[in-house]
Amino acid sequence: MKKYNHLLEVKDLHTSFIIPAGEVKSVNGVSFTLDDGKILGIVGESGSGKSVTAYSIMQIISNPGKIVGGSIKYKGEELVGMPEKKLEEIRGNKISIIFQDPMTSLNPVYTIGNQLVEAIRLHTFTKELVVDKKTNKFKKDQNGNAVYKEVRISKKDAKAKAKSMLELVGINEVDHRLKQYPFEFSGGMLQRIMIAMGLVCEPDILIADEPTTALDVTIQAQILELLKEIQKKMGMAIIIITHDLGVIAQICDEVDVMYAGKIVEKGLVDEIFYNPQHEYTKGLLKSIPRDKDKKGDRLIPIEGNPVDVFALPKGCAFAPRCAECMKICLSKYPPNLNVNSAHETSCFKYIQQQYLDEKISKEQLEKYIEIEKSEDACMHDVSACMQKDKKSKEVSKWRI
Ligand SMILES: Nc1ncnc2c1ncn2[C@@H]1O[C@H](COP(=O)(O)OP(=O)(O)O)[C@@H](O)[C@H]1O
Ligand code: SF4
Ligand SMILES: [Mg+2]
Repeated sequence: MKKYNHLLEVKDLHTSFIIPAGEVKSVNGVSFTLDDGKILGIVGESGSGKSVTAYSIMQIISNPGKIVGGSIKYKGEELVGMPEKKLEEIRGNKISIIFQDPMTSLNPVYTIGNQLVEAIRLHTFTKELVVDKKTNKFKKDQNGNAVYKEVRISKKDAKAKAKSMLELVGINEVDHRLKQYPFEFSGGMLQRIMIAMGLVCEPDILIADEPTTALDVTIQAQILELLKEIQKKMGMAIIIITHDLGVIAQICDEVDVMYAGKIVEKGLVDEIFYNPQHEYTKGLLKSIPRDKDKKGDRLIPIEGNPVDVFALPKGCAFAPRCAECMKICLSKYPPNLNVNSAHETSCFKYIQQQYLDEKISKEQLEKYIEIEKSEDACMHDVSACMQKDKKSKEVSKWRI
């Protein structure tokens, strides 16, 4: 029986880079769970903290970065603060990562075969019977049971495994391919090899950080299809990190939308695509081509620049770019609400709409926005909100 609730459970994770200019709060209170065999997407613009979230899970944050708060549990076991020796048993073995650019992860002076065999031998051990040197017979313990020791997999066996891994990721003529160097492969082939590298230990979780960003659309679709197939064959869970909602639509079960180090909306993929509630998610969806778009329809980019991490706004970080921004958005961070059992969002516009549709009472509204008596919060007077608060508009324009 399973002893844990979720395969991976990230709770209120904070990861910062402390640099001379100040603290960069790259991941600022991220929580999510991942269950066996699921494909979770993390989507957001460049700089939203997706890779730092992945590196935090892998515990490979480089100086001056540091996990400053929160918890990451793998099969119920806390990874934050785990001794390095124990972490090494998990990193690469149980949780592995593939990076965006294969050329930065592969060594150009070694053959693909060499690098795959190395990776397999680093992480794969087998059991071998222990021979008693005096008697030259197999050793037995007090109860008469055979004694085993763990030994690294042999080069021959590692090579056989490397071959089967390359076949699994759709590379043919493997004997010949193993002798080739990275520069002799195309971008798509290299990404397949990176996937093979990530899979050699048959991890429980594979994190793919922008695995298809450098590839053209056709090759991208092939790689995503491959990941899906492998997931079905091997049964592991996958986290796909991307800035591209198209990738999410093709492969994921669930999606977390990230903005300025926080998850602003999350849910089943269909919920996020067909029933988005956060203004940032709505903006992302308008900026990608969709099947229903007619020829000549214009895509609408999200205006403004991604948030300045040194000057995070007090309230919702998306406020300076949000056409629906209200005064309260500038001073308070929106609470996280369940839209339904498969969907959560953090947006005051959603809360306002719930109130206008009479789905929540005035008391609930006030609880959500925690209005203090003296506070001049625009949502208190919903009719004023409907006319859009002029002042917050001005501020938002000024901020952009
Ligand atoms: N080594 C570093 N030093 C300082 N800031 C960093 C470092 N690495 C990442 N950051 C900052 O953390 C934020 C999130 O980065 P990242 O997770 O790489 O974003 P992305 O969503 O594009 O993957 C960015 O603002 C970035 O500038
Ligand atoms: S909380 Fe306010 S500023 Fe933020 S996305 Fe929602 S409406 Fe826009
Ligand atoms: Mg990144």
